Amino acid sequence: MPHARKYFANILLLYAPLIIKLIDKFKSMPVTPSMICPDHGIIFRKNPSEILNAYREWSEQKPKRKALVIYDTMWHSTEKMAYAIVDALTSNDVDATPMHLKKWNRSDIITEALDAGAIIIGSPTLNNGLFPTVSDFLTYMKGLKPQNKIGAAFGSYGWSGEAPKIVLESFRNLKLKIFEETASFKFSPGAAKKDFLIEFGKKFAQKLLEECSETKNPGV
Ligand SMILES: Cc1cc2nc3c(=O)[nH]c(=O)nc-3n(C[C@H](O)[C@H](O)[C@H](O)COP(=O)(O)O)c2cc1C
Repeated sequence: MPHARKYFANILLLYAPLIIKLIDKFKSMPVTPSMICPDHGIIFRKNPSEILNAYREWSEQKPKRKALVIYDTMWHSTEKMAYAIVDALTSNDVDATPMHLKKWNRSDIITEALDAGAIIIGSPTLNNGLFPTVSDFLTYMKGLKPQNKIGAAFGSYGWSGEAPKIVLESFRNLKLKIFEETASFKFSPGAAKKDFLIEFGKKFAQKLLEECSETKNPGV
C-alpha cells in the first residue's frame, strides 16, 4: 500500500475529481472484481476493494492537522525559520515536519502531502526570485494540482525579499486557501523575531483547525 499511495500521489493526483466519479460509478455496478489490471501501473490480485477504497480516500484529500514545512537555504537563515515554525506548530497540536529540499525528494514530499492540511514553503530570495529547488518543487506541485490545503510562505532575504510573495502567487494559481500573513526576515532571525514565528505558528494552527473542522475530517 505505501507504494500504491506513492504511485497515486505522483501519477494520478491530478485526476482525483475524475477518479471519485469513476469509483462511485463502478461501485454502483453489479460487478465484484477478483483482480484489477490497469492499462499501466500495479496489478491488484488480492482484495481489489481495498485499493478501490484507498483510491477513493486518497482522491478526497481530506485535510488532517498535518503541516509540511518545505524549504531550502543557503546559509541556514530560512532553515532556522523553518524549525521555529515547526516548533510553534507542534506546540499547537499540529503534526509538523521540516522538509529540506536537498534531503527530501519531491516525489516523497507530494506523497506526504496527500492527507496534509497545510503546505508551508520557505525560500531565501535569490536575484529577486525563488531559490531554484523551491521553483522546482512548485512546478512539480502545479502539475499534480493537490487540493484542500492551506498554503503559507516564509523566507529570509537581504534587501528586496520577493520569495514569499512568489510562493503565495503559486498557491493562488492552484486555487489553494492562503494564509496571507508571511514571515519574511532580513538575514538571520534573532531572538525577537522568534517570538513573531511562535505567534505565526499559533495563528496558522488555529486556521488549520478551522479548515479541518469545516471539511469534517474524521482523521483530525
Ligand atoms: C547570489 C545572491 C543573490 C541574492 N539576491 C537577493 C535579492 O535579489 N533580494 C534579496 O532580498 N536578497 C538577495 N540575496 C540575499 C539572501 O536572500 C540573504 O542572504 C538571505 O538571508 C539568505 O537566506 P538563507 O540563509 O536561508 O540562505 C541574495 C543572495 C545571494 C547569495
